[in-house]
Amino acid sequence: MVKATVIGAAGGIGQPLSLLLKQCPLVTELSLYDVVNTPGVAVDLSHINTAATVTGFTPENDGLAKALKGTEIVVIPAGMPRKPGMTRDDLFNANASIVHGIAEAIAKNAPKAFVLVISNPVNSTVPICAEVFKKEGIYDPKRLFGVTTLDVVRAGTFVSEAAGKSQDAAKYQVPVVGGHSGVTIVPLLSQAKPSFSPDQKQVEQLTERIQFGGDEVVKAKEAKGSATLSMAYAGARFAIAVMEAMSGKTSESPEYSYVDLTSDAEGSKAVTEVIGSNTAFFSVPLTLGKNGVEKIHPLGKLSDFESSAVKKAVEALGDNIAKGVSFKANKL
Ligand code: 2OP
Repeated sequence: MVKATVIGAAGGIGQPLSLLLKQCPLVTELSLYDVVNTPGVAVDLSHINTAATVTGFTPENDGLAKALKGTEIVVIPAGMPRKPGMTRDDLFNANASIVHGIAEAIAKNAPKAFVLVISNPVNSTVPICAEVFKKEGIYDPKRLFGVTTLDVVRAGTFVSEAAGKSQDAAKYQVPVVGGHSGVTIVPLLSQAKPSFSPDQKQVEQLTERIQFGGDEVVKAKEAKGSATLSMAYAGARFAIAVMEAMSGKTSESPEYSYVDLTSDAEGSKAVTEVIGSNTAFFSVPLTLGKNGVEKIHPLGKLSDFESSAVKKAVEALGDNIAKGVSFKANKL
């Protein structure tokens, strides 16, 4: 019995994400919000014969507040997508205000909800949410997540291809830590399962492909947007993992998400020993529980190449996070 809300539900990611959540048996009420077209998307989805009732809201008649009231999980793909040549960071000006406004509405209307941020640049929009929630006195770091599942999904796909086993893509588990943009994305290929033994050139090529996988999509879509379908798949997969954990189910393998490391101060000690203390947010392996982040797991043994990639990621993340924090500070 879960009420789930998608903010940005009529967009390129929002529509397929809403479809996947409508198919999820854990969702009993699906609330869709966007600035336009949500009623149509909601009626369309409502004809599917699964349990969830679907309602669409627009800004009229206090739609955002209504979409959020009583919700337990909010997934946010709202905002502008990238165009060719843009980095996720270039979206900051367009998307920071959008996410800020959504975070304020969540604080007022669904302060206990789990919040899953997809809107880019995730490295900065998650800290914006954290700052808004702190200001509103409702911040619980265990309940705020930057969705980085697509990096893990891409890593599994690309590694299975490189190993000549693409038919087994779903079996490949490759940890990806750090952030969700370029060099902040750090795949730990040395820990891939089933294990495979790439040479150093292959490691470098695969790492770069995983880091810049989003650009492959932006280029192939010829200026018409960035990843929508694979992002929706990844967002739904993570949202379902959060809902399963809410219902008491524990998953065997860890999830990966960009979280505030204070969400499990004890568990994150081992992470901080490896990455240093210069970043407040990092995508880490974690176990989810009824209250959100239950345990942050160590990163495991890194190769020299991975250690230096982590160092670069931490440097870049410091700026990305500071940008999000100062955006909120300037709004005060
Ligand atoms: C990506 O990784 C859209 O950020 C998303 O392609």
